[in-house]
Amino acid sequence: TNVEWDEVTAEKGGYDHFMLKEIHEQPKAYRDTMLGRIDASGKKVVLPELKLTDEQIRNITNIHIVACGTAYHAGLVGGSVIEQLVRIPVAFDVASEYRYRSPLITPQTLVIVVSQSGETADTLAALREAHDNGAHVIAITNVVGSSIARDADDVIATLAGPEIAVASTKAYSSQLIAFYLFALYLSQVRGTQTEAEVAHIIAAMQALPEQVEKMLDNTDAIKTYAEEISKHEHLFFIGRGMDYAVVQEGSLKLKEISYIHSEAYAAGELKHGTLALIEEGIPVIALITQENVMEKTVSNIKEVKARGGAVMAITYDEHIPSLLKSVDQALAIPKTLPILSAALSVVPLQMLAYYASLARGLDVDKPRNLAKSVTVE
Ligand code: G6P
Repeated sequence: TNVEWDEVTAEKGGYDHFMLKEIHEQPKAYRDTMLGRIDASGKKVVLPELKLTDEQIRNITNIHIVACGTAYHAGLVGGSVIEQLVRIPVAFDVASEYRYRSPLITPQTLVIVVSQSGETADTLAALREAHDNGAHVIAITNVVGSSIARDADDVIATLAGPEIAVASTKAYSSQLIAFYLFALYLSQVRGTQTEAEVAHIIAAMQALPEQVEKMLDNTDAIKTYAEEISKHEHLFFIGRGMDYAVVQEGSLKLKEISYIHSEAYAAGELKHGTLALIEEGIPVIALITQENVMEKTVSNIKEVKARGGAVMAITYDEHIPSLLKSVDQALAIPKTLPILSAALSVVPLQMLAYYASLARGLDVDKPRNLAKSVTVE
């Protein structure tokens, strides 16, 4: 009936789809997730909710990050931030694999499970495996009353608010914020970053919400590009380091809601096989925010171009003029620190998936065969 229709429209807050609404809620989700976790001086992260003691933190020998789907992709970024800032070795597992490979868990292993819903069966089983081996488990979750939150020793809540669209957006990016905060916290306790370095990162984090707003103010270019790629059946994403982690999420987003087959490749790995699939006109999206490896990625782009691939680069403004010598198109994102880039670069990839799904006339919020929360193994 019309009444129901109006209610749904109201729930969507004037947006056509929950996914679009949730993408636009990211600046708020970032602010809310940081709220109360940065002290008044702006120089220190505080996580009063943690039971994990400083002594336990000093004794951590290794970290396991375990999750499914989009949450796993957030873990890939988060773990690499922890490795960079805290220099603790991090291993990553998709939760459905974790307990069946007899992972090396000791009481000095910190296990971080990541789950928007807190109800994913595979992730819950992984948490129990970790507990059975004596590890301390921290859950990064969006639902504080969830099974995973209840079972974990500690919870770092993401304050993204309810996420309705099956394709996760604001939950992923808020998980990144939670990881940044936690990595900084660990670095404070273990003394791996100076106070000035921590303050510098915090300041850059506090700028993220406005930078996302700026990106969302103008999405015309990404919309046009999405319409273009919606006519293709296959495409590739490439990136190095943190960018590789982000394109894996971008690729998943696109597959989930546009049903376009895409693969995310570490840019340097393409030549070890997948170059065989590059043919005339195939779209390749290159994410380039990690400046230390930018030249390497440009070499990989040249390999793609030589085989006829049509390359779209997503990078910082300042690099576009020189990159346009090697790519077909380029899209600018705001500049931030290399470790924080995912919180910005994921946004155009979310919009790309959204507009591609729309251009194909698909059900953006409820893709076929997928559920928001999977409570079976
Ligand atoms: C399902 C959803 C994915 C989600 C995954 C993990 O498969 O379709 O979008 O990333 O579960 O969900 P969680 O709630 O544990 O983050």
